[in-house]
Amino acid sequence: MDDATIICRCEDVTYGEVKKAIVSGLLIPGDIRKYTRAGMGSCQGRTCQRLLMQMLKEYSDSCEIAEDTINIRTPIQPISITELSVWDSEINEKE
Ligand code: FES
Repeated sequence: MDDATIICRCEDVTYGEVKKAIVSGLLIPGDIRKYTRAGMGSCQGRTCQRLLMQMLKEYSDSCEIAEDTINIRTPIQPISITELSVWDSEINEKE
C-alpha cells in the first residue's frame, strides 16, 4: 500500500502517518488514535479500525498488542439529525 493511501476517510489519515506512528513506538490502538486522529471521525473507527489493526500486526513484533481494539464510542450506530430531533420531541412530550 502506498504511504499516501487514505486509511481513515473521516479524518483523512494516511497509511504513511499511521505507519510512522507505529514505527515510532505507538503500539496501543488508543495511542495511535490520539496521535493520528484515525478512528476519531464520524464513524468512530467502524471503517478504519480493521485496517489499523492489520497495520499494527504488520509493523509491530507483538501479536498480543494487536488483539487490543480501539474503543468505539456511542452512538453505536450513526443516527441522523431527523431521528435525533424526533427522539428529543418524544422525550419532551413525556415531560
Ligand atoms: S474512517 Fe476512520 S473514523 Fe471513520
